[in-house]
Amino acid sequence: MKVITVKDKNEGGKKAFELIKQGIDNGAKVLGLATGSTPIPLYQEMVASDLDFSNMTSVNLDEYVGLPEGNPQSYHQFMKDNLFNKKPFKHSYVPDGNAADIEQAAKDYDQIIADNPIDIQILGIGRNGHIGFNEPGSSFDSTTHKVHLTESTIEANKRFFDDEKDVPRYAISMGIGSIMKGKQIILMAYGENKADAIKATIEGPVTDHVPASVLQNHKDAIIIIDEAAASKLS
Ligand code: F6R
Repeated sequence: MKVITVKDKNEGGKKAFELIKQGIDNGAKVLGLATGSTPIPLYQEMVASDLDFSNMTSVNLDEYVGLPEGNPQSYHQFMKDNLFNKKPFKHSYVPDGNAADIEQAAKDYDQIIADNPIDIQILGIGRNGHIGFNEPGSSFDSTTHKVHLTESTIEANKRFFDDEKDVPRYAISMGIGSIMKGKQIILMAYGENKADAIKATIEGPVTDHVPASVLQNHKDAIIIIDEAAASKLS
């Protein structure tokens, strides 16, 4: 695990962008992408750059179950607004949270991941250490699956909705096993409310209580954190 401490999220976005650029120069063709507030500075760098992604594929981590595709809070829409409408990829995959059969949609998504092995996987982290929507207790071997969101995640995500009761209770997420197959993993975390999760991820034992701690077992995981997120590291 390599830890890079930056001044703030803008510097973090620039750092992650440099790593992606290097990866593309070295032949990366498939990016694993995340939503949420953390990757926004990175996506701004990508949009402002002269890089061309039109021959590349993107594979997103997760989507809520039951939000129509055009819903402004859906991750499909988030990705269009923040990246895809400005910098299109050849293929962009986001799990189908509206499939009539979510179990089948999860299997189909695993096939997409198998057909498009991820070169660089971008991650944020939840305050409870989740990656994707793999909440504490998720198996390290898991593949794409339907997830019952925890109260802590619903609480954290309600800021994007008019009312807490509008926050979906279920999501479809790549599993930890699928995430760990990414050749390189870049996890970003900014702000003091991520400091405990970052300490547990970097300095704690590898345990399913802290899903991101599994990254200690990855051979090329890079953690980009600002000073606030790094503040509890010894
Ligand atoms: C989003 C995702 C989540 C977020 C995490 C942090 O696709 O997979 O794991 O990365 O919840 O969210 P933010 O960045 O909003 O703090």
